[in-house]
Amino acid sequence: MTVDFKIQTRPLMADFGVEILDVNLTTADDETHAEVIRLFHENGAIVLRGQDMTADDLMSFVNQFGEPEDHTQTQFTIPGYPKIFCLSNKVEDGKPIGAHNDGVGWHTDYSYKAEPVMCTMLYAVEVPPEGSDTLLADLCAAYDTLTDERKAELDPLVLHHSYQHLMSSRQFGRMEISDELKATNPDVLHPLIRTHPADGRKALWVSTGTVKGIVGMEDKAAEDLIEDLVGFVTDERFVYRHKWQVGDILVWDNRCTLHTGTLFDDTKFVRLMHRLWVRGDKPY
Ligand code: SIN
Repeated sequence: MTVDFKIQTRPLMADFGVEILDVNLTTADDETHAEVIRLFHENGAIVLRGQDMTADDLMSFVNQFGEPEDHTQTQFTIPGYPKIFCLSNKVEDGKPIGAHNDGVGWHTDYSYKAEPVMCTMLYAVEVPPEGSDTLLADLCAAYDTLTDERKAELDPLVLHHSYQHLMSSRQFGRMEISDELKATNPDVLHPLIRTHPADGRKALWVSTGTVKGIVGMEDKAAEDLIEDLVGFVTDERFVYRHKWQVGDILVWDNRCTLHTGTLFDDTKFVRLMHRLWVRGDKPY
């Protein structure tokens, strides 16, 4: 006899994301963990609140999604845990312990790589009482609302993504990069319309930050189209806003979402998040 396995959930949006209720990840059994992963794949994003995770707990959780990915700015990983990256405005012994405002601006993670990360996990260690929300845009829902004519126009377009462009143009944390980082992060091309490998759904996989242009299109026309598309996919009907509490875990699927961090008063408050990535595959 098989028994239906069910954990309580509540939707984040009508057709996107779920909050998983009453699961303690450090004590949950294998069956519960498998269900959490299934819910992630089925819904594109999951939230679990009130977790109390050590670095080892985070590693064992992320391993269930796939192979953890490395981080480009290795100076902000936690000692002994190269796959756990700190996002923070905290300074210890005169040195920043994390990248501050690293995720502000609509983007999808690691899109400057030939195989961008499949998912991103954020764990809230310290959060300001206001600001610093994380916003997720459902790119499949955005694509689904396009007319067939518009889909056909956008379908052949290919985006030029560039790490160097990202680092030289972003609003926060603009920086010169070493020759080694230039060599290990050559420019890449990705489709504008991305197919989700699990279910074949299409996402309007536009982004800012790493996107330098559109192949075969004049710079100004490409810039205008990207701005227009980013404005469209980030319309509030497609966006989930996560308001952080300490102990929250948010995981999203980068193959079908765009996300951004938001600002907070960093003269008054501290934010410390642990970020983990899971390897992905080549977009098509
Ligand atoms: C990110 O873009 O990876 C982080 C977003 C955030 O800090 O809210």
